[in-house]
Amino acid sequence: MAETERFYLTTPIYYVNDEPHIGHLFTTTVADAIARAHRLAGDEVFFLTGTDEHAAKVVDSAAERGLTAQQWSDRNAAAFRDAFAEFGIETDDFIRTSEPRHALFVRGAIAALVRSGDVYLGDYEGWYDASQEEYVSEGRAQEHDFKSPVTGRPLVKKQEKNYFFRLSQYQERLQRLLELQPDFVQPAARRNEVLGRLQAGLLDVPISRTGAGDWGLRFPGAEQHLIYVWIDALLSYTTAVDPAPRRRFWPAHTHLIAKDILWFHAVIWPAMLLALQATPEYAWLGLPRGVYAHSFWIRDGQKMSKSLGNFIGLVQLRELVASFGLDALRWFLITQGPLSTVDSDFSQARFVEVYNSELANTLGNAWNRIANMSARYLGGRFPRASSRGELCERALAILARSGEDGPLGLGRAQRGLELVRAIDACIDRTAPFRLAKDPANAERVADILYECAETYRIASLLLWPVLPGKMEEVWRRLGLREYQDALAGRGRGRFDEWCRWGGLRAGSQIAAGEALFPRHQPEDSPAATRGHSA
Ligand code: MSP
Repeated sequence: MAETERFYLTTPIYYVNDEPHIGHLFTTTVADAIARAHRLAGDEVFFLTGTDEHAAKVVDSAAERGLTAQQWSDRNAAAFRDAFAEFGIETDDFIRTSEPRHALFVRGAIAALVRSGDVYLGDYEGWYDASQEEYVSEGRAQEHDFKSPVTGRPLVKKQEKNYFFRLSQYQERLQRLLELQPDFVQPAARRNEVLGRLQAGLLDVPISRTGAGDWGLRFPGAEQHLIYVWIDALLSYTTAVDPAPRRRFWPAHTHLIAKDILWFHAVIWPAMLLALQATPEYAWLGLPRGVYAHSFWIRDGQKMSKSLGNFIGLVQLRELVASFGLDALRWFLITQGPLSTVDSDFSQARFVEVYNSELANTLGNAWNRIANMSARYLGGRFPRASSRGELCERALAILARSGEDGPLGLGRAQRGLELVRAIDACIDRTAPFRLAKDPANAERVADILYECAETYRIASLLLWPVLPGKMEEVWRRLGLREYQDALAGRGRGRFDEWCRWGGLRAGSQIAAGEALFPRHQPEDSPAATRGHSA
């Protein structure tokens, strides 16, 4: 991230048939941290989330409550928006597929694909997975015993006269894309899955349906057809940046998703974009730089679900925030979450363990040591900015290892943690508390404490995307208003410049304040002992 650039990041848009839960919050929190890291680096960021409303299951769950799909969507879209705000997520837009701007964009795009011949009217018969709102090929249906490969619910045979998208025309181009640009789908194992399925061949896909009520976007020129919800949903990524001043953000840098919706993002979406790009009106729609598919949070080795009683919803997440703070939840989700190809088991015991060892005993404790000793030996003011000592060398070496940050850049937080561990080790080794007993060592003590505080300042920049609340508190205590001023209101930072040694000036003050991450005794927490079986 050395040079600043435009950075457009999306999360999936979430179905509004139910309330948000840990899965939705996870993807969106991870995306928030990535977006913040880019803003901090000075990039011009556009971060999008939103809701996918035209699904049949939204109609069904609304009906169960005696509501219209629109009423139920309004209520749940607000629940998602509010939850994201409550959990500290700062997006640049929140798109709802029931908004007029979206209908306008989708209908325009589909009409262009009809004109270009990429969409045609045909007959369809196939296995439909109502729980995922998708058709499953004959082969996959057989392989999964005619049950949903994702949810295990029975598949149903459906026959329709539909509009089709000529997906089959794009097989070779997609294969070539994944071969020439292997990081188009990450992690690598996910790309290989997609390539494997691609090699089996691609059929054209139905993108409209009739006789399914009237909740959805009407097909342009054939208004008795509704546009298939997935086609509608994918186009939300482009609707949001269609207004002229926003088009500069396209192509998206990363579509962050989970493995459940990889096929749509890695195959159908790029094929649609290739088709659109070939039309005169949508020539601006190049391919995104890539798709990153993480795995799932599970509970005791099982999928989370309300019926199993192992579900982590907003209630449980709020309890964690009440007991540990919002940043602690973010830290746990991001550092312990299923970002690789392996699912993560959510465990309360693990949460407490990580909180205590990494946040309370490492980040919190090191701050305390620096601030308390600075108060005691320096009167809370650094008389001089010490030049490069051993800790500085260490900090510079850790900063230089940006190659370890991984495709999402989140490894940076681990480097921040490592830097703080180095501070602790330096305090142990140099023992300023012992040196301070002899006034002859005053300068040496001041230098050590300056180095520690300065290193903590640099660590705070590595940690801010994941721990924004606490690191901003650190900045306040160090009198570093400029960072907060620059970043406030979605502003941009100057990461590289701010990371240079010496940002803490001679004469600057340090305020100790309360513990950043108070150590947690398991019995203190109702959430920790009660367990989560809502
Ligand atoms: N509406 C579609 C997406 C359309 S995108 C153009 C959809 N919605 S969803 O509400 O089912 O959300 C799926 C996404 O929620 C996953 O891809 C993932 O980002 C997140 N998660 C849902 N459950 C999850 C877990 N148990 N664990 C981690 N993330 C999960 O699919």
